[in-house]
Amino acid sequence: MKILLTGGAGFIGSHTAVELLAGGFEVVVVDNYSNSDVSVNDRIVQAAKWQISRQKDDKLKIDMDNLPITFYYGDCRDGMFLDSVFRENEIDAVIHFAGLKAVGESVEKPLAYYDNNLGSTLVLLNVMKDHNVKKLIFSSSATVYSGDNKMPLDENSKTGNCTNPYGWTKYMIEEILRDEALADKEWSIALLRYFNPVGAHASGLIGEEPNGIPNNLMPYICRVAAGQGLGIRGQKLGKEYQKLKVFGNDYPTKDGTGVRDYIHVVDLAKGHVAAVSYLYRHSGAEAINLGTGQGYSVLDMVQTFAKVNDVPVPYEITGRRAGDVAEVYANPAKAKKELLWQAELGLEDMVRDAWGYMVKKCE
Ligand code: NAD
Ligand code: UD1
Repeated sequence: MKILLTGGAGFIGSHTAVELLAGGFEVVVVDNYSNSDVSVNDRIVQAAKWQISRQKDDKLKIDMDNLPITFYYGDCRDGMFLDSVFRENEIDAVIHFAGLKAVGESVEKPLAYYDNNLGSTLVLLNVMKDHNVKKLIFSSSATVYSGDNKMPLDENSKTGNCTNPYGWTKYMIEEILRDEALADKEWSIALLRYFNPVGAHASGLIGEEPNGIPNNLMPYICRVAAGQGLGIRGQKLGKEYQKLKVFGNDYPTKDGTGVRDYIHVVDLAKGHVAAVSYLYRHSGAEAINLGTGQGYSVLDMVQTFAKVNDVPVPYEITGRRAGDVAEVYANPAKAKKELLWQAELGLEDMVRDAWGYMVKKCE
């Protein structure tokens, strides 16, 4: 079975490519490398080999010297280009990761976000229809849930009231996909709502590569920890990484800091493999949470990172970040029931693997 991954060179796409290869699938990656590096292509192959060589189950008889993966450099908004990819490959299903994802940037450049995220989806849908490929997994986000819900969030929790253009693009794309699935019953679409993906592949070969100063907690912790001794590729880290800023300790949570549902990116990637099978036993468009159901606070993250990796993570408490809420975590029951999938890796795995990737990058 051949799966097309748009944005397959990115953080979640690259890990999904590895899981698909290790599961015996053929993979086609399309990426414009706007938020990734072409060197990821080779590292996906190396990480897949690393993983397959450790796999106990050799029933799949995967030819390690010829892993079935093809890489295309191009933009999903370019219909002629996408059409050529479909003509050259018999695609069975698509996972649409491609998109811009920085919340703050989306406030500054809303048009770029609407253009890229909506534009790429509309072009992709039309090309898929032309080639009669109607199985699609879409990278949605917990950000589509309205901020006034009770926790945990299930798929019937209220959506909308997004606080930024990035969130609205995810919300709007979900609507578009639902409308299309209503109009044409041949579609099978999974709207996977990710919670907070963190960590990296256990090989240390692929991981998260945020552009510029990271906004998200885990990549920031990694940089602060690296600043305590390591540099990134020989560069000394800037002053902004001397301490982590903990955004508020006066939330109504167990230690006053924000609580989130962190999920290991390898678990998330496996959720996509499970969703590919789901597409074959389902029709219509269905939203499904991919989270662990377990919330951890900022201080849980900092302390576990420091303990597991034996590296200091200095921090200071500052004011709340605008737009943040006290806690967000999933009810993951639907994924367990429908995808026959649940997260298996814990917080210690997440912080160990995130740091393992950072250390390897600094070597
Ligand atoms: P990423 O930026 O690492 O990966 C996205 C990839 O898409 C990048 O390699 C980028 O170069 C590529 N891309 C962007 N626009 C493109 C276009 N028009 N044509 C071709 N390629 C294009 O991001 P990620 O963390 O891997 O996220 C993947 C998807 O999951 C995104 O849609 C994101 O919004 C969504 N998501 C991510 C998170 C998260 O915390 N990482 C949470 C919820 C949802
Ligand atoms: C972010 C995105 C959200 C996206 C989600 C999952 C923003 C505003 N929101 O939210 O759209 O769906 O990631 O990818 O970017 N924190 C600190 N110090 C830091 C960074 C974060 O204390 O330097 C705290 C935050 O206040 C929060 C927690 O750590 O309590 C997690 O923050 P973050 O990683 O940015 O994720 P989300 O807030 O869930």
